[in-house]
Amino acid sequence: MTSRLNPVSEHAAEIPGYPMDRAAGCPFDPPPALRAKQQEGPLAKVRLWDGSTPWLVTRYAEQRALLADPRVSADISRPGYPSSAPVNGSSTVSFILMDDPEHARLRRMVTAPFTIKRVEALRPAVQKIVDELIDAMLAGPKPVDLVEAFALPVPSLVICELLGVPYSDHDFFQENSKTVIKRDASPEQRMAALGHLSGYLNNLLDEKLADPGDDMLSRLTERIKTGELSRQEAAQMGVLLLIAGHETTANMIALGTLALLENPDQLALLRDTDDEKLVVSAVEELLRYLHITHNGRRRVALEDIEIAGQLIRAGEGLIMANDIGNRDPDAFPDPDRLDIRRDARHHVAFGFGVHQCLGQPLARLELQVVYSTFYRRIPTLRLAADLEQIPFKHDGSVYGVYELPVTW
Ligand code: HEM
Repeated sequence: MTSRLNPVSEHAAEIPGYPMDRAAGCPFDPPPALRAKQQEGPLAKVRLWDGSTPWLVTRYAEQRALLADPRVSADISRPGYPSSAPVNGSSTVSFILMDDPEHARLRRMVTAPFTIKRVEALRPAVQKIVDELIDAMLAGPKPVDLVEAFALPVPSLVICELLGVPYSDHDFFQENSKTVIKRDASPEQRMAALGHLSGYLNNLLDEKLADPGDDMLSRLTERIKTGELSRQEAAQMGVLLLIAGHETTANMIALGTLALLENPDQLALLRDTDDEKLVVSAVEELLRYLHITHNGRRRVALEDIEIAGQLIRAGEGLIMANDIGNRDPDAFPDPDRLDIRRDARHHVAFGFGVHQCLGQPLARLELQVVYSTFYRRIPTLRLAADLEQIPFKHDGSVYGVYELPVTW
């Protein structure tokens, strides 16, 4: 049965590690070594920090097929799961690292506020947040760090409002979230940061149990009361939503702005348009082009799986390198060109399959409001440093910039 399969799993043509360091070239492009692997074939073996050799899946079609395959698990505690760093089982951040039916049971409890209709109703509130932050920026000194003044506050204010988390605690939760997703944080540092966040969420749940408001955490306390949800599960869900709700979108705002400043023709198109559809397609294209979740979607095979002439054995790890998947020429012609007019809606920046991003309608809305407002209100926006001086997040599982000095 296996005779027509490649013998690659026996003679793994290993690449030294993933994520790979980006070359000094374009900071928006996947590393050339990853492109080379994609050209060789859809699957290759990669050697990780712990010596394990999971499969690295580099082509779009195979990535989607595997992410949608029920024989593939996202459970970090299973042997063979390709961890990006040393983990402690109890550091699991809720349902993102669980399989169905547990994953579905928990996810279902928080889907309602993220439906397209409910999210669309937030547009005026998000617009107000964006306008006020721009007003404050324009009234203050320049140059300014766009990350601190704008990119981080926009999604943080929105997710705080939705969850019922006081925004005044933003320094605390932003710092701890940063540690959780930092690749080179030690297991102790990551555990401590997660501990701080879940302690904080637990205290908030106490407050909401006593005095519920109109927010997601209060609605979770109702489920605690009925016994549908444990305290621990509710706190972990709160941590997941708080981290996922601000870090990712913030990086898309800052890195997206930098990518547009480096592609002035595209920036001009976006700034000068009245066409809402162009704004929508610019958001999709920037999500595709930048693909900020650089750590890959990590999974482990539960059964033998045959794909693209290759046998993945039960228990072998899988890393879907969606950053290069979004640059697969079979899915996106001329993939390294940023072209906000292309139809990029089928990108995998939000993943694929059952774990596909729960918050994507919200992320899209925030980015649409930001991209349609910011450059129009500050048409002379420019970098206040050389590109070489910008500190990129090469050490994080979410790519972006630590700082973006801008002026106008
Ligand atoms: C541009 C911004 C965002 C990007 C690029 C992004 C990306 C992703 C990706 C790639 C996944 C899939 C993980 C996997 O398959 O292993 C994911 C899952 C998830 N995201 Fe997002 N995300 C963004 C914004 C948000 C926002 C605003 C929220 C709101 C709370 C959110 C909440 C979640 C949750 C809860 C999951 C887990 C879903 C599950 O396991 O069923 N994300 N996100």
